[in-house]
Amino acid sequence: MSQTFNQLYSLKYLLEIEKAGKRSSLHSFHRYFGKLIPAIPAFAIKNFTREGDWVCDPFAGSGTTLVEAKLNNRNALGFEINPISCFISKVKTTALDTNKLEELNEMLLQDIQADNHPVREEELPYCVNRQHWFKPFVQEKLVKIKRNIDMFFCRHASGLSGKEQKDIADFYKLVLSSIIRNVSNADTQHVFPGYSKRLRRLDEEGKREIKVLNSFKNALYKKTRALKEYNFRNLNAQIIIENSDSRFLEAEKYPKAELIVTNPPYISSIRYIETLKLELYWMEFIFSGAEYKSLEKKMIGNDRLDRKDYAVRVLTPYERINKIVEGVYHLDAKSGNVVGRYFNEMTDVIKNMNKLLKPRGHVVMKISDSKVKKVKIETGLLLTEIAGRFGFKAVDFFIDKIKNRSLLTARNTYSDIITHDYIVVWQKVEEADGV
Ligand SMILES: C[S@@+](CC[C@H](N)C(=O)[O-])C[C@H]1O[C@@H](n2cnc3c(N)ncnc32)[C@H](O)[C@@H]1O
Repeated sequence: MSQTFNQLYSLKYLLEIEKAGKRSSLHSFHRYFGKLIPAIPAFAIKNFTREGDWVCDPFAGSGTTLVEAKLNNRNALGFEINPISCFISKVKTTALDTNKLEELNEMLLQDIQADNHPVREEELPYCVNRQHWFKPFVQEKLVKIKRNIDMFFCRHASGLSGKEQKDIADFYKLVLSSIIRNVSNADTQHVFPGYSKRLRRLDEEGKREIKVLNSFKNALYKKTRALKEYNFRNLNAQIIIENSDSRFLEAEKYPKAELIVTNPPYISSIRYIETLKLELYWMEFIFSGAEYKSLEKKMIGNDRLDRKDYAVRVLTPYERINKIVEGVYHLDAKSGNVVGRYFNEMTDVIKNMNKLLKPRGHVVMKISDSKVKKVKIETGLLLTEIAGRFGFKAVDFFIDKIKNRSLLTARNTYSDIITHDYIVVWQKVEEADGV
């Protein structure tokens, strides 16, 4: 009897049920590589929390967990190293007065259309190889949209509070950011920006028409409709989004969560920063090459190591992981240290996850194995072993097949095609400090 009950209500089964549900269009506000499917936080939130509880994501990315938490009237706390990701999450979780917004949208579009002031050089953002990525008329139109957003509330008396004005201006900036890749020379079919043969050919044959204002207008209307459909007005859940490094948090500063739902970066993971570099430049989150590089190096699992970083083998406190590091290091010193560093950095985050949770709180994590220099690394199992040393017990571990073919890409030059992910579930049983 209990066997049947367990089978019926296994977490895997509950996730499958959740996958069949309708998802909010807020999730597609902005392209983001490595997004969680919303059913994962949705099923975890419904199973492990109640209304008013706190849900946390230490790798919040574009805010999938935070949006699902808010839709389910849970408070949410997200940490994320990439400033543009925090910005996307903020806009996706902010309620706006959509009637007012619709009125203002038309005024903004009129301002942009009527703008015939020339674009000055100093209005163009810092963007490496700007001419390569954007045609001159595209640059001009993007500046015009941006400048009219920036000046919008100076020009028009709206009767809105300072906060409401800022929230709407941020929404407009997100709309702009969401079209940057589409109007650039970077092929939207590729994960990393690249002016592909396909696009070059289309350009040579005059078959690609880039309509910047139309793209902006369409995106503006589409996202306004999404906000109308899923407004959070009746919900009073709080959202805290911190642009910080999850290895170094002052965890005690925050409300304790009932649940953590996350998908951590992968070993030698896709270069998240690179996938969003055009948006980071245009939306002025990055002003120099040094800033760009420094952000990349803070990404857990990154493979931007200098020669001095792999002169000596990086070891971890875990025998099993050290054997893997040694094996990979032997084949390629840099890759070996990418692996060693990954597990050391994830250890810091796991300790923080313990501190962020209430006693008996849960972690639901999507993770997949990696292959580094042909060496298979069972990341989910190894992280579960580490979690066992820092106050967690393993509750469940199951395969979640990736159905969407477009996600079946090689994650980088080191790893193979990934056809499934694992869902791991842990429960906090002790304070990490006491371990
Ligand atoms: C797999 S993505 C998460 C995507 C997210 N679940 C979503 O649905 O959009 C992993 C995220 O970890 C972030 N990240 C990497 N290193 C980090 C660090 N040291 N601290 C905080 N976030 C980090 C990356 O910027 C990336 O957004």
